[in-house]
Amino acid sequence: MFPSSALRFLWGLLLLLTLSRDGALRISPRKTVPYQEDHVRRFRVEGVGNYSIMLLQEDQGLLLVGAREAIYALDINDISRKKASANWEVTKADKEECTNKGKQADTDCQNYIRILHESSEGRVYVCGTNAFSPECRYMKYTEGQLTMEDKRSDGKGKCPFDPFQRYSSTMVDGDLYSATSNNFLGSEPVVMRSSPNPVRTEFKISWLNEPSFISMDTVPESLGSFDGDDDKVYLFFSETAVEYDSYNKLTVSRVARVCKGDLGGQRTLQKKWTSFLKARLDCPVPDSRLPPVVQDVFLLRHSDWRKSTFYAVFTPQQGSVDQSAVCAYSVSDIGEVFSQGKFKTPVTVATSHVWVMYSEDLPEPRPGACINNASRALGVKQSLDLPDKTLRFIKDRPLMDQAVRPVGGGPQLVEKGATFTRIVVDYVQALDGQTHHVMFIGTEDGFVQKAVNYDGDMVVIEEVQLFQAQEPIRILRLSSALGLLYAGSDSGVVQMTLSACERHTSCLDCVLSRDPHCAWDPPASRCTTLPSPPEAPDPGSARPKPENVTLIPGSTVNLPCRPASNLAQVRWTLAGRPLPPSPRYYTYREGLMLLNASAADAGAYACLSEEHVKGRLYRRTEAEYQLAPGGSGGLTTPRLEAQRTGPSLAALQASVALLTLLLVALLAWNLYRGHLPLPCGGGPTEAPGPKQAPPGGPRDPGSSILVPEGDPPESKPLMTPVNYSANNNLADANASSNGERSLAPRVTMDTLQFIDDESEI
Ligand SMILES: *[C@@H]1O[C@H](CO)[C@@H](O)[C@H](O)[C@H]1NC(C)=O
Ligand SMILES: *[C@@H]1O[C@H](CO)[C@@H](O)[C@H](O)[C@H]1NC(C)=O
Ligand SMILES: *[C@@H]1O[C@H](CO)[C@@H](O)[C@H](O)[C@H]1NC(C)=O
Ligand SMILES: *[C@@H]1O[C@H](CO)[C@@H](O)[C@H](O)[C@H]1NC(C)=O
Repeated sequence: MFPSSALRFLWGLLLLLTLSRDGALRISPRKTVPYQEDHVRRFRVEGVGNYSIMLLQEDQGLLLVGAREAIYALDINDISRKKASANWEVTKADKEECTNKGKQADTDCQNYIRILHESSEGRVYVCGTNAFSPECRYMKYTEGQLTMEDKRSDGKGKCPFDPFQRYSSTMVDGDLYSATSNNFLGSEPVVMRSSPNPVRTEFKISWLNEPSFISMDTVPESLGSFDGDDDKVYLFFSETAVEYDSYNKLTVSRVARVCKGDLGGQRTLQKKWTSFLKARLDCPVPDSRLPPVVQDVFLLRHSDWRKSTFYAVFTPQQGSVDQSAVCAYSVSDIGEVFSQGKFKTPVTVATSHVWVMYSEDLPEPRPGACINNASRALGVKQSLDLPDKTLRFIKDRPLMDQAVRPVGGGPQLVEKGATFTRIVVDYVQALDGQTHHVMFIGTEDGFVQKAVNYDGDMVVIEEVQLFQAQEPIRILRLSSALGLLYAGSDSGVVQMTLSACERHTSCLDCVLSRDPHCAWDPPASRCTTLPSPPEAPDPGSARPKPENVTLIPGSTVNLPCRPASNLAQVRWTLAGRPLPPSPRYYTYREGLMLLNASAADAGAYACLSEEHVKGRLYRRTEAEYQLAPGGSGGLTTPRLEAQRTGPSLAALQASVALLTLLLVALLAWNLYRGHLPLPCGGGPTEAPGPKQAPPGGPRDPGSSILVPEGDPPESKPLMTPVNYSANNNLADANASSNGERSLAPRVTMDTLQFIDDESEI
């Protein structure tokens, strides 16, 4: 009997382990919300397509949308209400020239609006591909009208010629920074600033090698800088690697940056960036041998720019596994690589170049550094004063040796089956003061996924189908203040709320959704969107009835306690005092286990929860048990059965108890991870009491720049584990639930070899 039951235990254990492992590696959305006409607001115009650029003007209550040959001013609260529109069509002459050059009249030779930036005097700067002959002009919204100024300027180097080519741009203090192709063929990449002091990249493979430009953003790094540093403009892109040995072309993801005050060099690098530095972006996706390719980047701004974070979505290199990922990079980590890291340098071996780490002394001032106090002290007051040595160094070596590592060392989210296209991220402040970064990710097939990484625990709350046709999400924009998300595709524009808590119909569903925007409202009996003032629980009504438990010496007693709130901290008392330390007490998420009980364990046990809600502490008794030595036979503990064995089988009893414990721990972990259903009605915690309170809270009003001080990029899981007390000798059995990512194999590019032929021009 012993071997067979032990085997069964082991078998169950292995089965559970297998299931858990499998489930842990395959994240999928908890809920799929199929397309419905009425769950979102839409905008589209018959005959007009390619809604791929947006500009939010919250102060004017407008969402400007650029499409093919048209721009629309929509009501920011309800985009189905069009306030104004303007057409910008290609002239006959331009179209003719375009088709004469061999381009398609109805696709290539149209005007795709590609740039919409707020400019001075309330004007908007607009650029379009204009039949492979890009142009820019100003536009104004006044008295319910969108009017385009007649004056046009050349859009070369600002806006792509080819509507199918990736590009990026940003407006900083009235100057346009752009990354695109500078010629008709799309073969000459450029990153430039259009201003009275224009500056651009050197046309060299070591600077940009068949790049695909993804995103640009500025970070105000001069603010509170200790060394008089300059503001930066960051650029994310992918390009063909120069530094790796590979049979095929290998695409790598990069982050590059330039200094806002860069004026170029005096003789060397005249009107070229003296501060263009780039580094590889590392996003170690499990099971993938080739580095993934960046597709979109969102800058989650923080009032202290050092705590700002770039969120990037990655898709596999061609021919690689079908797996998308999100990695986050902190502005300080990126800055450190650029300001402290080593450079790579090309070395000629036989007829080709090999890129190795440059280990000799660097010239002064440091190549690629912005002008700061240190360089000013050396008499270098602007980039024009930089010595030739520094300039020649950076001209040949813009690449850093070190890659930028993601926050937490790995991806925030990895998902099989979906192809991510775009991302925006919002801060959501939880009831306990924790801030969660909630990601909204657009996919290739017209869905938006809402996801949170709770301290390494990846959760995709839901996926919502926004477009009936399975078409890619081309753009996502977020208004934190309004709690609205806007998505554009080839066929139209959609507006959705950041949360739709009413989709969770039961208390359990509401809690298990782990949506930080939502909380269960017991009186109304529905899942509501935060913020709504949390009600003070009625302490009297919530008190559970004590349960009598018969104590059988040598048995394992299980006392369940599941607090109504995931955020509650749980502690146990015996006769009104904290549990004495003992290796026989095992506190886990679902309760307390008493191993090898004896008559001395009799007494009144209570499970107390404490929860901070909006600065107030709510205490509550979740469960009470009266343990008394009892008669013979029968199961002695509520709900979960005790394992009772005869005294002659002490060893067997111990091993069975241990296995049971492991099983229960695994079960608990699976329940917690949501792999197994959890009955809402069970447990003494169902008594009406305080709000079920997954964290969530008021979104930051106003701009996305506001967030309280000192928030870590990731915060703790919704289901806060109980405090493992010191007397818990088996804590590890359960505590591993958060160490999931450590199971994942990592790819490090460092193992690849460096060789390359840098065939420079
Ligand atoms: C424009 O939209 C059409 C579908 O309406 C799509 O086939 C085409 O690829 C889009 N063009 C660009 C440049 O995105
Ligand atoms: C750097 O220069 C700025 C302004 O010129 C000054 O405020 C700051 O104190 C200086 N920092 C150091 C460390 O000298
Ligand atoms: C528990 O036992 C006490 C006496 O030992 C008794 O008064 C009480 O009613 C019992 N409670 C329950 C719920 O059975
Ligand atoms: C259980 O406790 C008794 C004393 O209460 C002790 O003699 C016995 O060895 C313990 N058994 C195990 C397996 O720890």
